[in-house]
Amino acid sequence: MTALTLSTAGAATLRADAVVVGVAKGAKGAKGPVVAVGAEAVDAAFDGKLAAVLETLGASGAEGEVTKLPAPSGLKAPLVIAVGLGAAPEEDGAYPAETLRRAAGSAARALAGSKKAAFALPVGDAGDAQAVAEGALLGAYSFTAYQDAGNGKKPLAEVALLGTKPRDKAFKEAAGRAVAVAEEMNRARDLVNTPPNDLYPESFAAVATAAGKEHGLKVQVWDEKALVKGGFGGILGVGQGAARGPRLVKVAYTHPEAEKSLALVGKGITYDSGGISLKPAGHNETMKCDMSGAAAVFAAVVAAARLGLRVNLTGWLALAENMPSGTATRPGDVLRMYSGKTVEVLNTDAEGRLVLADAIAKASEESPDAIVDVATLTGAMVLALGHRRFGIMANDDAFRAALHETAEEAGEDSWPMPLPGDLRKGMDSPTADLANMGDRMGGGLVAGLFLKEFVGEGITWAHLDIAGPAFHEGAPFGYTPKGGTGSAVRTLVRLAERAADGDLG
Ligand code: BES
Ligand code: MN
Ligand code: ZN
Repeated sequence: MTALTLSTAGAATLRADAVVVGVAKGAKGAKGPVVAVGAEAVDAAFDGKLAAVLETLGASGAEGEVTKLPAPSGLKAPLVIAVGLGAAPEEDGAYPAETLRRAAGSAARALAGSKKAAFALPVGDAGDAQAVAEGALLGAYSFTAYQDAGNGKKPLAEVALLGTKPRDKAFKEAAGRAVAVAEEMNRARDLVNTPPNDLYPESFAAVATAAGKEHGLKVQVWDEKALVKGGFGGILGVGQGAARGPRLVKVAYTHPEAEKSLALVGKGITYDSGGISLKPAGHNETMKCDMSGAAAVFAAVVAAARLGLRVNLTGWLALAENMPSGTATRPGDVLRMYSGKTVEVLNTDAEGRLVLADAIAKASEESPDAIVDVATLTGAMVLALGHRRFGIMANDDAFRAALHETAEEAGEDSWPMPLPGDLRKGMDSPTADLANMGDRMGGGLVAGLFLKEFVGEGITWAHLDIAGPAFHEGAPFGYTPKGGTGSAVRTLVRLAERAADGDLG
């Protein structure tokens, strides 16, 4: 794990393998990039010509741009990394937190294989420091558990944040928050990236039990026998085709002075083959990512515990492997769900809503102030919103708006989506109370409407469909690696912080 230190040292004097500076686009009409605040000492070592040197090398200051330069004499570090920040802010303005986070991430990624880097990015206050620290710790992430140790570069081992005050309360708290959030996001990424032959419901439950205990959480696991006894027909129906049985896991964090309670429910399909309604080739290679919601929920509860937030937070992980076999649920089967409703399974690939429905109904029994579920639920949401933002649906407009705002504060892109009542009748079933499929058009909203049926009376609920951003198949960018991204973790932690402040929208 990458270590983080705060430092008042100057960029020229700190001993490190590299020093990271920011470079922004020049003002309209001006030619060449401009060096950002924080880089003064480095610029001085270049005789004030750093911007000109960068221009010669073709740097423009565009977001995501990384330029490596050998350091001139006068700097303790042998290497300078200039990272693009995009447009410079208005006079005296600060860079948006997400800009700093991404820039720090790009730099940390470029520094794989190095031991220590000094980050001299523009840090005005503790909030900026938190963003740079998060970006650096997230950008340094790599998943190498299944590779020969000599195969790849080791992640950057140490990040020193310059321009910060190590003894200042606000900076210390910001660093603590950044470490907890980034490490837990990286935990979620590890869970997502672990191949499905090793991460299955039972092993996921074991990991959650061990890590949960370590952080003082109360963990409860329902195995198959307990699920049968409890009447969890949705979770059992999805899991019954697999050699490895399903689990429901509850992880509870409580604070003695908490005034608000939040339930987080995560879709944990450790592999989604589609079941008997098998996915076609080309659609199942990345389906180990179908437990990203459960990973995000678990990581967020641990982060809240590490931060000691004044809130009661319960995570529910609905874990199953969706496989075809002689014991699998057939299209046409009717399941009796935990809530008592019956569901005709028309398509076994619409399995996420079945496991979530049971977990949402169970979570409702504790009457939390709000329930938020997180799921890689529909391809339709990816078609609607693309790969870089999740959709938010809710049974309460103010809560949906609050979540959108919360995500933005946390630096995650999202967009509010409706739950139009006219799509409900598409799920009418001649045999059961409802079917697990409805109109194809608006499929993401249909899935949301299905879940809504299982929310307890009078409980505020929101649904985050993270099918787009949960897993990144393209080239890495900013602090986002290939594979699991840790989508929704920051939003959930921020929501828990808001709840701790009594502000749930
Ligand atoms: N896990 C998938 C959704 C998904 C798609 C996640 C792409 C990540 C990337 C989900 O279980 C699924 O298969 N949904 C179906 C529902 C349909 C059968 C009603 C879909 O979206 O096609
Ligand atoms: Mn599916
Ligand atoms: Zn799925």
